[in-house]
Amino acid sequence: MPLKDGYGRNHDYLRISVTDRCNLRCQYCMGEDGIEQISHDVILSYEDIIRVVEAGAELGISKIRVTGGEPLVRKGIVSLVERIAAVPGITDLAMTTNGILLGRYAEELKQAGLKRVNISLDTLKPDLYHQVTRCGDLDAVLNGIDAALKYNLEPVKLNVVLMKGINEDEVLDFLRLTIDRPLHIRFIEYMPIGDHDCAYRDHYLPLSYIEETAEKAGLNLTPIPLPGGAGPAESYALEGAKGTIGLIHPISKHFCNTCNRLRLTAEGNLKACLYWQDEISVRPVINNKKALQNLIKNVLTSKQASHQMAADGACGSVKPGSMRGMSKTGG
Ligand code: 5AD
Ligand code: SF4
Repeated sequence: MPLKDGYGRNHDYLRISVTDRCNLRCQYCMGEDGIEQISHDVILSYEDIIRVVEAGAELGISKIRVTGGEPLVRKGIVSLVERIAAVPGITDLAMTTNGILLGRYAEELKQAGLKRVNISLDTLKPDLYHQVTRCGDLDAVLNGIDAALKYNLEPVKLNVVLMKGINEDEVLDFLRLTIDRPLHIRFIEYMPIGDHDCAYRDHYLPLSYIEETAEKAGLNLTPIPLPGGAGPAESYALEGAKGTIGLIHPISKHFCNTCNRLRLTAEGNLKACLYWQDEISVRPVINNKKALQNLIKNVLTSKQASHQMAADGACGSVKPGSMRGMSKTGG
């Protein structure tokens, strides 16, 4: 019996935030001083995360993504990956990471059963990278990307949040990265989430900008069938390229009608949507599989048809849930 919500959408995908901590401070994700960290005893233990995965897998969850914060800063993360990979029914296991520590962990993660990674990278300029992440070293991420390719954590996808006035002049450089190496660039529209300084208003740019820029430069974006685990991206390729280009439009063409995902926050709350405030703790039922499964179903029953990010994007308007940044929600 597949897990369906009130709108008939099938849910087979659980995104697990294993920590709200991060070794970067990306401007669109957190304020300068970082986030108010949740203490270690409030973070769901690995044992409890596995209980949720097992309960979900019996209900039809087959895809898991481990996210954060930055998942690689949580101690013992490789052992968690190994345990998730061993749960019957889990056929796809991915991670979203900023890539800083991937050079160190890629080989172990692959051996543990991780299939693939998405690496967040918004600029290819070292100084700008340092500025946007408020501390990051671009070379570390580039090493991480090399390691992901070397150990076949493939397809290796790079998440690029398009930001007006920050990285729109690098669109062609990112597109060209797909030519020689099997890198899958996914441009994402800036969302008014965790937006502490109303930067959304100044930096949002619809992804039609990518298509226009490619066309002006004479680059032909040919639509292609979705590569494995493409999710909501529209996929394209440049002629003869080894990699692909994905466009993810959460705002200008939202894809809520095909949403298949549930989220588990680092404190152990299930959320049916990135956007809405509603979330419910798994803790009271964590030792009772039947009750846990009922809770998962209940969370889905109350899932809304769609988010309202475009409508609420104007700064200062009421944005339910949207002040909880990605580091707290799991991207
Ligand atoms: N808008 C769009 N993408 C975001 N991410 C984090 N915050 C935002 C935002 N406000 C992205 C990160 C990462 C993924 C988890 O989500 O760049 O790639
Ligand atoms: Fe860390 Fe990701 Fe937030 Fe950047 S966007 S601060 S890498 S959690």
